[in-house]
Order: sequence, then structure tokens, then C-alpha cells
Amino acid sequence: MEQKKLNSRKCAMVGCGFVGSASVYALMQSGLFSEIVLIDANRQKAEGEALDISHGLPFAKPMSIYAGDYADLADAAIVIVTAGAAQKPGETRLDLVKKNVGIFKSIIPQIAAVNQDCILLIVANPVDVLTYAALKLSGFPKERVIGSGTVLDSARFQQMLGEHLDVDSRSVNAFIIGEHGDSEIAAWSSANIAGVPIHRVCEMRGFTDHDYETHRIAEAVKNSAYEIIEKKGATYYGIGMSVTRICEAIIRNELSILPVSTLMCGQFGLEDICLSMPAFVGSHGVDTLLPFELDVSELLALQKSAATLKKVIEEAEL
Ligand SMILES: NC(=O)c1ccc[n+]([C@@H]2O[C@H](COP(=O)([O-])OP(=O)(O)OC[C@H]3O[C@@H](n4cnc5c(N)ncnc54)[C@H](O)[C@@H]3O)[C@@H](O)[C@H]2O)c1
Repeated sequence: MEQKKLNSRKCAMVGCGFVGSASVYALMQSGLFSEIVLIDANRQKAEGEALDISHGLPFAKPMSIYAGDYADLADAAIVIVTAGAAQKPGETRLDLVKKNVGIFKSIIPQIAAVNQDCILLIVANPVDVLTYAALKLSGFPKERVIGSGTVLDSARFQQMLGEHLDVDSRSVNAFIIGEHGDSEIAAWSSANIAGVPIHRVCEMRGFTDHDYETHRIAEAVKNSAYEIIEKKGATYYGIGMSVTRICEAIIRNELSILPVSTLMCGQFGLEDICLSMPAFVGSHGVDTLLPFELDVSELLALQKSAATLKKVIEEAEL
């Protein structure tokens, strides 16, 4: 098929609830795009969010933010999908699977019908299963179907470690890998502060009970979505910043290392499943995975996480 000319200054947001609108708000402030089209099953909601967010433009950079239809995303370089039912208090991300796969069966073919060349950035949950669903339903190459994966979880991990160790969270190199969900893994063996192994910095700060602290922090990261949902009903600011960071890496061809969800093709013994491992992200989407080092317990946990996801994918009958 002939490649259509995409507008690298344009993105589309499908789903304008808490996450979609917070992401557009963060994108608007980043100045990365000059055009953002908002699409939602509830057209009024898309129109209201577009108006509200546009009213901040005199304090940002000029751009066009408007509610539209699928035809309007034909030239968008990135199409972000946040549409779907959200997690209810006490509900796991995997509980959402049936509802949201159904929604994707309607949305993804409508995107692919007008735009075969964009990068699809999936955010709706369970994000790993829906990234796999988007890959199958779109027929796009694997490089161009990306899930936000554990970018948000890794940001939470870095923020909490930064606070714990009294260091700028941007100096924390630490990843959450695997499922964006209950089986996610904190990759402690490679975590470091500016190249110094994390345990040495912990000791420098007077924390010597590594088993206790690592367990406490990893659990806090894993449970933070539940805690926020319990307290305020939804999470959206952190993911809005995560979406903006991924878009930035793509549009500016940064080849940044981000733990996005992507199709595994034999790496770490995993096949035909989407989950997060640190990958190079640039203008072609996911370029390649980093040869990330895992210790034996992390590798076993990753394989267990993958098995959990595979079962859900099989049940979703994609
Ligand atoms: N990946 C992450 O890190 C992360 C973080 C937070 C939330 N989420 C997920 O993002 C999704 C959205 O969460 P939210 O809080 O914004 O929910 P929300 O209910 O506020 O918004 C969902 C929006 O999707 C729209 N929608 C539903 N079906 C649609 C369809 N067929 N076509 C177009 N629009 C449709 C709804 O009208 C609504 O505006 C959820 O699945 C949530 O779990 C992911």
C-alpha cells in the first residue's frame, strides 16, 4: 500500500474521559503538536473538553484543539486510545478485559480504515491485553502498536525512590517491567542512582534492611492505582505526563529508553504476547528492545507475569 503523508504535528485522542482529557491537557502544554483532534462516543464530552483545554492556549503555544470524527484522524501521526470503561474500586485491570476488548473491536477498525500509517498508542486497560488486541485488529506492524505499559509504574517507582533516598527522581534509573498490573516486577537488580547500585545509596542514607524496604516500595508502586482510585475515583495526571513523554520520544525521534508494552518475539523466552520491557522509542515507534539484564528471580517473575497475561489473551478470543 502507498504510504500516505502524515502530519507529524498532529495527534488524535480517542476517548476523552479523565485520562484522555488530562493527556490532551499535558500535550497542549508541551507544545509538541499543532493540532489535536478529540474523539469520543459522547460527542458533547469531546466538544466540552476541546473548548475547555483550548482556553489555556493563550498561555501555551498556538494549536488547534477540536472535537471530530474518525475521518479527522486520517493524517494524524499518533493516535492515542484511552477509550474504555475505567477500573471501579476493587476491580482489577484484568476484570476490565471483556468490556474493553469489545470496545476495541469497534474502535480499532475505524482508525485503520482511515489511517494505516500512524503509530497507535494504547492506554486503556488492561493495557497489555488491549495493545495485543490493537495489533491483531489493526494489522499494523508490531513497531507501530505501542502500549503505555509500565511507563507510569516506572515513574511512580522513580518518584518514590527519589523521595525515599532524598535525590532528584530524574537521577533514579529504575524500571517496573512485565504487566501493567498486579504481576508487575520491580527490576531491583539493575536499579541505580547515576550508575551507583541502589542498595549502596540506601546504605548511604541509613536504610540497611533491603528486604523490608524493597518489598514496601514495590508494593506501594503496585498498589498506587488502587489507592488513588479508592481516594479520588480515577488516576489521570501521572498517565497524562507519561503519554506526553512517549509522544515526545516518538515525534522528536529521541530513541529514548521507555518501558512500553510491545509484542515479544522470543526475547526472555516470551512469544506472542505484549508486555513492557525497556525499549528504544523513536519516530518508527518501538525500534528494538534493550538487552536488559535480569537476575534469576526477576526472569522467573517475568515469565509468570507473561503466563498470566497469555491466559487472559486466550480467554479474550482475539
Ligand atoms: N495505562 C495506564 O497507565 C492507565 C492509567 C489510568 C487509566 N487507564 C485506563 O484508561 C481508560 C480510561 O480511563 P478514564 O478514567 O479516562 O475513564 P472515563 O470513563 O473517564 O473515560 C472513558 C471515555 O471513553 C469513552 N468511550 C467509551 N466507549 C467508547 C467508544 N466506543 N468510542 C469512543 N469513546 C468511547 C467514554 O465516553 C469516556 O469519555 C481506562 O481503561 C483506564 O483503566 C490506564
